[in-house]
Amino acid sequence: MSKEELGFETLAIHAGQEADPLTGAVVPPIYQTSTYKQDGIGGTRGGYEYSRTANPTRAALETCLAALEHGARAFAFASGMAAEDCLIRTLCRPGDHVLIPGDAYGGTFRLFDKVMTAWGVEHESVLQADLAAVARAVAARRPRLIWTETPTNPLLSIVDIRALAALAHEHDALLVVDNTFASPYLQRPLDLGADIVVCSTTKYIGGHSDVVGGALVLKDLAHAEDLAFHQNATGGVAGPFDAWLTLRGVKTLAARMDRHCANAARVAHALQDHPAVASVLYPGLPGHPGHDIAKSQMRDFGGMVSFRLAAGEEKAVEVCARTTLFTLGESLGGVESLIEHPARMTHASAAGSPLEVPSDLVRLSVGIEDPEDLLADLAQALG
Ligand SMILES: Cc1ncc(COP(=O)(O)O)c(C=O)c1O
Repeated sequence: MSKEELGFETLAIHAGQEADPLTGAVVPPIYQTSTYKQDGIGGTRGGYEYSRTANPTRAALETCLAALEHGARAFAFASGMAAEDCLIRTLCRPGDHVLIPGDAYGGTFRLFDKVMTAWGVEHESVLQADLAAVARAVAARRPRLIWTETPTNPLLSIVDIRALAALAHEHDALLVVDNTFASPYLQRPLDLGADIVVCSTTKYIGGHSDVVGGALVLKDLAHAEDLAFHQNATGGVAGPFDAWLTLRGVKTLAARMDRHCANAARVAHALQDHPAVASVLYPGLPGHPGHDIAKSQMRDFGGMVSFRLAAGEEKAVEVCARTTLFTLGESLGGVESLIEHPARMTHASAAGSPLEVPSDLVRLSVGIEDPEDLLADLAQALG
């Protein structure tokens, strides 16, 4: 069977992960080596010369991620932020403009606002669910990149990837989609018209809160050589053990994600009925403004749920302190449930900016525990 005919679960377990030719090991070995013996100068075995440039364990992960996202090539990095940094510095030059989401992961905003600005890459944030506003900004700014995230962190807004891709291409811009919240199991941006996927593999792809990593996946090979050059030249690569852990995690992505989605849907509905909760942000709820678009571009609605407390910030902070199964912590996408207060934690760097998040907001990463236990924990924490 050709790779195109294989299902997601099969690719997650097999793509890039053929049995080791030397020993038959079913699991790709951790090639914990910095360098490789050459059979004479320039006589590399399989092209491997130095592990910043390429490493077989990282190559296995990159092959698998490219297959899962339906991309032509993938690059694995030491973190999601390293992937983002490398992408921007590969594609943008001083004077270039990037249209960024008005609602996004705070670290992405900080990268543009505090780092890229100093190097002459300009940005403007626009709430991208408003396509007319995006169209106006694109016409005015002529951006090199439209950068989007869907569902967004932490407000769970949905952006229409097909429409944004059309807008980008009409104006010779590239569309970059941060697919961290959905993962390729729920959403394949490249099939919807995007040019590049960026993600934090720390989250659902790794899935066990034991490794930090990031990836870029390209729809075609147009920028592949340039990215490979910059990945090697700047060096923020995934190490062999981190690549191996991520590869081990991704094998079960589909099974985990189904359970994350089922549990999150139950949590969202329960929260909606609770008197202490002012609103629930979950794209799976029919009343969510992006529900229909989410249905058209996602397999299911994901494991992230945010909600706002009727009694305000202090109550939000109190709920975060009172859960016992939902662990108070940053990050998301692991098998265990997490709770956080975005305004004081993950999105503190967006305070005072257009990306500032409401202070009465709580974000849940709903894990794959018994849903009854999760509902009971939230009920006792809300009081
Ligand atoms: C949507 C999104 N993109 C990118 C990142 C950055 O990834 P990393 O923490 O692996 O650097 C995060 C981290 O939380 C994220 O949530």
